[in-house]
Amino acid sequence: MTRLMLIAALLLVPMVASAQETHMPNKPLLIAHRGASGERPEHTLLSYELAIAQGADFIEPDLVPTKDGVLVARHENNITDTTDVAAHPEFATRKATKTIDGETMTGWFTEDFTLAELKTLRARERLPELRPGNTAYDGKAEIPTFDEIIALAKRASKATGRTIGIYPETKHPSYFASIGLPLEARLLAKLQEAGWDSADAPVFIQSFEVNNLIALKQRTKVRLIQLMDASGGPADKAEPSYAAMATPAGLRKVAAYAYGIGPARAMILPPSGTATSLVADAHAAGLRVHPWTFRAENVFLSPAYRTGAPAEHGRLAEEIRYFIGLGVDGFFTDFPHIGFEARAAAAPAPAQ
Ligand code: G3P
Ligand code: CA
Repeated sequence: MTRLMLIAALLLVPMVASAQETHMPNKPLLIAHRGASGERPEHTLLSYELAIAQGADFIEPDLVPTKDGVLVARHENNITDTTDVAAHPEFATRKATKTIDGETMTGWFTEDFTLAELKTLRARERLPELRPGNTAYDGKAEIPTFDEIIALAKRASKATGRTIGIYPETKHPSYFASIGLPLEARLLAKLQEAGWDSADAPVFIQSFEVNNLIALKQRTKVRLIQLMDASGGPADKAEPSYAAMATPAGLRKVAAYAYGIGPARAMILPPSGTATSLVADAHAAGLRVHPWTFRAENVFLSPAYRTGAPAEHGRLAEEIRYFIGLGVDGFFTDFPHIGFEARAAAAPAPAQ
């Protein structure tokens, strides 16, 4: 797509999206993974704003706490790779080695910084070799708070006439509970403050762990999503493996507390190229299905949709359309504008 075509498409988004709301449900849901993280440093307001301009229904913040208990958006509490913290001599002594969910790592961690301190840092691109264009935005954005993200979603909903939802993920919930910074009460308090604590609020809460979702089910009506990875199992060891959780019997257990599942793409379309029955099995258990993560670079695409070198873009729109054809109810993508176009191309024409 040329730059001119992209600008024209972006200008059309509010009108097209409104038409969708009038004539058909926004299905499957377009979830901006860490914002439009294919084109801006992830988990910045720049990234979320672009995602909204590109037609996303939901923006996705991964949440971790600061030392003073404020929820901020980072994919992990180790901020070494996504901020300029290493270039701040005043924080040199905060460098630490920690074991989190069984993985030992060295770096700087959000729970060792107050919000005021974190706000002196600037975000930078996680994948500079794969996404060199994004480095132009290095140093331009702060780490956003959950408050700021809710405010953005509300502001954008008003400005566009669309409902922009949020799709927060609790990161490392057992670990944060173990150090006295549990995420859940803070998350629920913010949702209540926002008036987004009902079953029809434009919010999904997601977690790779199980026990915190089961506990949340007792405390909130907000829809809960059980994340599943293509290998391993939940860090809280509540279930032996994600593979077991994805069986028909496992899915029935999940359905007792969750509205849906967020499986890795490969659990639906493995590299072999033959789709599994996960979408149908989850639907049979009464669960919605929101797979992750659709990325344009060949290195991430399913083998059938790759064209060219690993860092080049392949046929993401076709891959998304394939999953839409399988009946998914939503999808996470780093490239919301491609997701928007793919969904529009896959949808039946509205009745005249
Ligand atoms: O939350 C869906 C997807 O984002 C899970 O993967 O590692 O990108 O948070 P991750
Ligand atoms: Ca996530």
